[in-house]
Amino acid sequence: MSHAIQVRPVQSKDLDALEALEKTTFESDRLSRRSFRRWISNDHRAFLVATQNEKLVGYILIILHRGTRLARLYSIAVDSNVRGQGLGATLIRAGEQAALDASRIDMRLEVRQDNSSAIRLYEQLGYHLFGQYHDYYEDHADAFRYQKRIRQFDPSHWQRQVPWYRQSTDFTCGPASLMMAMHGLRSDVLLDRSQELQIWREATTIFMTSGHGGCHPIGLALAAHKRGFQAEVWINNNGPLFIDGVRSEKKKHVMTLVHNDFVGQAEENNISILHQDITQAELSEALKSGGIPLVLISTSQLDGRRAPHWVVVTAVDDDFFYLHDPDPTDNTQADFDCQYIPIGRSDFDRMARFGRDRLRTAVVIRKA
Ligand SMILES: CC(C)(COP(=O)(O)OP(=O)(O)OC[C@H]1O[C@@H](n2cnc3c(N)ncnc32)[C@H](O)[C@@H]1OP(=O)(O)O)[C@@H](O)C(=O)NCCC(=O)NCCS
Repeated sequence: MSHAIQVRPVQSKDLDALEALEKTTFESDRLSRRSFRRWISNDHRAFLVATQNEKLVGYILIILHRGTRLARLYSIAVDSNVRGQGLGATLIRAGEQAALDASRIDMRLEVRQDNSSAIRLYEQLGYHLFGQYHDYYEDHADAFRYQKRIRQFDPSHWQRQVPWYRQSTDFTCGPASLMMAMHGLRSDVLLDRSQELQIWREATTIFMTSGHGGCHPIGLALAAHKRGFQAEVWINNNGPLFIDGVRSEKKKHVMTLVHNDFVGQAEENNISILHQDITQAELSEALKSGGIPLVLISTSQLDGRRAPHWVVVTAVDDDFFYLHDPDPTDNTQADFDCQYIPIGRSDFDRMARFGRDRLRTAVVIRKA
């Protein structure tokens, strides 16, 4: 690529040149001057331009919606006079870095199915096809949807080999997570549906905010204990769990009975319950000393549903905790996208708590 080309953040003075480049690049679905102006002043985006001798010769606009791990490559254009020299790739790499700096994990984009040069470029840069939209563009052309995991797990960091298992019902994240952890410690543990449902029947709170009950941390610890594992429970409160999301007094009563029963069984089986927050340092230590922690998160950070959800902590480094999530946010997600999902340490504490009471709970499973 020519040395005279520079990439920098967009400025208001670029507006005329952006509009001109857009007109010469796209025949339809152009970004209007008004849209460009809006994106220039918007904070939730990465917007970079390339200049050559002060002339604008390319741009990339990446949208960074709040509350999601995704970044969306919304538009990219390179002046036809400088195409084929690597500028498109340079802009995409710089955009990926900007998205990474904003703690994004995956980049997605749509591209016209007949835009072979752009598709080739995306594929060269590691994007993979995961879906399509029919009749997506103004001229009714279809779009391919591409995705790339931009935050890569560095395997040189400490990690456990944990298999991934997809929960087969809405309410079995707890059993699915426990099965992954147990199988990670002892490969003879079966990863199948009957085990999944059996553990749910042992550990369920019966009711929860809506639908079927999920699993209680002490219930999961007891299920692990029954299968020959050691389990340690961390809960930062004393009372029955999850009842503030339930209105019916009858349901609250049932959930309280179940809670008290789990506490009693834990005592009988010498399962230790620590009534305190589990800190990031303690989670890391648990992993490094051979344990596999299950943590309860709120899915509001992932999909806005605000449901309690069990996941497995499978690795840790200076910046991230890595999770196996038994429930892909969308069905097109490849299995590997649900493994070692990086969650920034600064986001983790916000994610790993649930409800008004800010319940933070974890179950650390170890070989007995
Ligand atoms: C898509 C687009 C942004 C790519 O920009 P670009 O600057 O030409 O991209 P690159 O130069 O990085 O890569 C394009 C090709 O040049 C090749 N190339 C990269 N560096 C090169 C170099 N130093 N010398 C020669 N060729 C090079 C790439 O390998 C690629 O080759 P291929 O497509 O033939 O396999 C540009 O074509 C464009 O603006 N198209 C119109 C708008 C558009 O379609 N946007 C995408 C909408 S989804």
